[in-house]
Amino acid sequence: MPRPQYNRRMATTLRQSKNFIGGEWVDAASGETFESTSPADGELIGVFPKSGPDDVDRAVSAAREAYEHWRLVPAPKRGELLYRFAQLLVERKDEVTDLMTHEMGKVAPEAGGDVQEAIDMSYYMGGEGRRLFGQTTPSELRDKFNMSVRMPIGVVGAITPWNFPIAIPSWKIAPALVAGNTVVFKPATDTPALGQRFVELLDEAGIPKGVVNIVHGGGGSVGERLVRHPDVPVITLTGSRDTGVTVMRNGAENLKRIHLELGGKNAIIVLDDADLDLAVNGIVWSAFGTSGQRCTAASRVIVHEKVLGELSSRLVAAVEKLSLGPGWEDETDVGPVINRAALDKIHSYTKIGVDEGAKLLTGGETASDGDLAKGFYYRPTIFGDVEPGMRIAQEEIFGPTTALIPVKDADEAIRVSNGVRFGLSSSIFTQDVNRAFRAMRDLEAGITYINAGTTGAEVHLPFGGTKDTGNGHREAGQAALDVYTEWKSVYVDYSGTLQRAQIDNA
Ligand code: UN1
Repeated sequence: MPRPQYNRRMATTLRQSKNFIGGEWVDAASGETFESTSPADGELIGVFPKSGPDDVDRAVSAAREAYEHWRLVPAPKRGELLYRFAQLLVERKDEVTDLMTHEMGKVAPEAGGDVQEAIDMSYYMGGEGRRLFGQTTPSELRDKFNMSVRMPIGVVGAITPWNFPIAIPSWKIAPALVAGNTVVFKPATDTPALGQRFVELLDEAGIPKGVVNIVHGGGGSVGERLVRHPDVPVITLTGSRDTGVTVMRNGAENLKRIHLELGGKNAIIVLDDADLDLAVNGIVWSAFGTSGQRCTAASRVIVHEKVLGELSSRLVAAVEKLSLGPGWEDETDVGPVINRAALDKIHSYTKIGVDEGAKLLTGGETASDGDLAKGFYYRPTIFGDVEPGMRIAQEEIFGPTTALIPVKDADEAIRVSNGVRFGLSSSIFTQDVNRAFRAMRDLEAGITYINAGTTGAEVHLPFGGTKDTGNGHREAGQAALDVYTEWKSVYVDYSGTLQRAQIDNA
């Protein structure tokens, strides 16, 4: 992959962190802690409070109290705080990027992209402070004015994953805040230092006490309490399908608004008229960038049989040139995967693929030569001769593994692409405008790329997917505001008489 030059490694400092509740840094009620270590080399990144239900309750009551004044702060002022936060992220971009290469493991240019996505989102949502548009519309009666306005909802519980540890919190927290909600934030236990840094910078930007709170800890304790807490009307989660189902179930009792952003089994289609060099670059970037640990990663490549031989040999050659290593080293193309369990899961899918009769074209093993043995590295893996129904072509692996599926024509390609339970991202490489427009219409996914891979969403368009990828909501863009606001319709009658809708104007 082409590597832009990046700043030299900066030393990470060991973090001894606390929860941030009502504007104070506090330990977990239990006094217990957990460690965050680097997936690249096992380095200890920091020690964090292992919180439980009591800590969540405290954070929710701080957020509930703060809501009463935050909802009345004029939206443009709320937006200005997000501008200030974005500016701080710009100033600290190198430092946060470097921390991300250590704590999460992605390579420096991608870690910088993750931070940049949060900068973009914060500026974008900051601008919403002066929009948050509602509608005005004529009344059916005389001397009466009708409008709809967006109202904040209350305390938002934001549960975020480790794979975009700065970008995804911004997708959730920035729109929640500009709309006038307050937040209790539970970052992933694999990337607590980055969650912490996010909140430290919001604090530095001047977010009032209690408006944003962070509670560290696991899903079973902190996450579950947040989801069940009666004073948290909105839950936003990016995570696995199974976690999504549990969250929906646990939130049902309080009829919560649940926003879910779950898995993907995204495919790149390569038709016989595609620019193959471009397609190879798109596949390498989308399948092996972030070590395949994006919801949008291309874990399937659906190839017209006429170009299959040529595409697979070029692809394998390109992938075998990728070098594995820590994300902070300039020569690294592919960083580690997040932890031991991920490494084991990814390798178990290699075995499943081989047992199912797919052909292992490259990779398929842990990389442990030299210093790589200190981290969790998996060789970029490509399977050929994959049938659409095989488990490696159906289940989310979330690692550097992709499956080549041969097809006879464009219609079959679309059918195979749609033949999975998820519907996040999709892509087609073709030079034929008719085929491209058919794909835009027929691919069952929240995102479709033409002549680009499956990753690379921009913050001002809706992000999310169909089918089991979610529950119909979207983040990013204007669509995100629908998650964090409630519509109110307002009728102002200035006629001075009682006018009855549907009756007096009949
Ligand atoms: C994710 O993996 O959950 O489009 C988010 C992309 C990134 C975001 C991915 N902008 O791949």
